[in-house]
Amino acid sequence: MSNPSLLILPGDGIGPEVMTQVNRVIDWFGAKRGLAFDVSEDLVGGAAYDKHGTPLHDDTLAKAMEVDAVLLGAVGGPKYDALDFSVKPERGLLRLRKEMDLFANLRPAQCFDALADFSSLKRDVVAGLDIVIVRELTSGIYFGEPRGIIKEGNERVGINTQRYTESEIERVARSAFELARRRNNKVCSMEKANVMESGILWREVVQKVHDEDYPDVELSHMYADAGAMQLCRWPKQFDVIVTDNLFGDLLSDAAAMLTGSLGMLPSASLGAPMANGRPKALYEPVHGSAPDIAGQGKANPIACILSFAMALRYSFDQGDEATRIESAVEKVLADGLRTADLIGEEGVEPVSTAQMGDAILAALDASL
Ligand code: IPM
Ligand code: MG
Repeated sequence: MSNPSLLILPGDGIGPEVMTQVNRVIDWFGAKRGLAFDVSEDLVGGAAYDKHGTPLHDDTLAKAMEVDAVLLGAVGGPKYDALDFSVKPERGLLRLRKEMDLFANLRPAQCFDALADFSSLKRDVVAGLDIVIVRELTSGIYFGEPRGIIKEGNERVGINTQRYTESEIERVARSAFELARRRNNKVCSMEKANVMESGILWREVVQKVHDEDYPDVELSHMYADAGAMQLCRWPKQFDVIVTDNLFGDLLSDAAAMLTGSLGMLPSASLGAPMANGRPKALYEPVHGSAPDIAGQGKANPIACILSFAMALRYSFDQGDEATRIESAVEKVLADGLRTADLIGEEGVEPVSTAQMGDAILAALDASL
């Protein structure tokens, strides 16, 4: 049998440097755990634009559709700010999500005990936090038509459209309920049913899917603004949050900060099962390309390494090996290792991206 295949798209900014550390972890699993992958690499975002004049080449998309899982670093940077919207680095990522139909974006926000004091919230609010936001990723206002900037009389009007079909809501609701069953069996659905028709439909469909097929899961509904407030007030009340594309984008950044640093958070974007039974999947850190620190060896590789752990869990059915990575990360943090994004404690000198990689590999070795 051939090895499972991985397509690596390091992208822009700190993407390539954090991905270098992920590659070391992938190699470690091949050498030490008999889990070898066929790894290929390609360009996305600004890096693809520089070479091909498009943020996602058709050949790259074709490869992404073929492989068992895609690992992406980050896209974007100030160099591309003036580009036309249609070729901005972000369009490469959005096109991948859309064409691969990765409708369920899982964004865990887990607070490692060693980092509880890095959160801007009090320790007891965040310590032990373990929630997942399931963000709808292929529809809603990110993709709805009509969109654009049009001329109306003598002024311009910016237009975007929030649009959800019942089936789009239903499938992401199912993902959330399935996930909750493997966790603490609670789902909170967030929308703005008080002001948006799409929110009314969202609430109805989520409730219907629940009543018909997941009555054992505890379901609640919240307006997304109240949800944002509750996330900051007492986040541990949640287990799984399911929400639309735009609210999910906002709420997941807020949730990320609860954990102390955006440099810690992985994500998985999952679609329908392929012929081999594995879901179409793309794994990426929640943080962006951080152009201000790119190329300086300062970036935190943990979010990207934890994204590979999510790939082991959700694409390759290797939950124990995923836990092995998560425990290694927990150990290096408990040992006091900190990249520059995690500095604040007295007398702690930051380690480099590569040193963090070294320490995680050593902790993996020690786990054998
Ligand atoms: C995210 C990012 C993206 C989004 C950008 C880079 C297009 O903010 O993954 O959260 O808005 O979805
Ligand atoms: Mg975002």
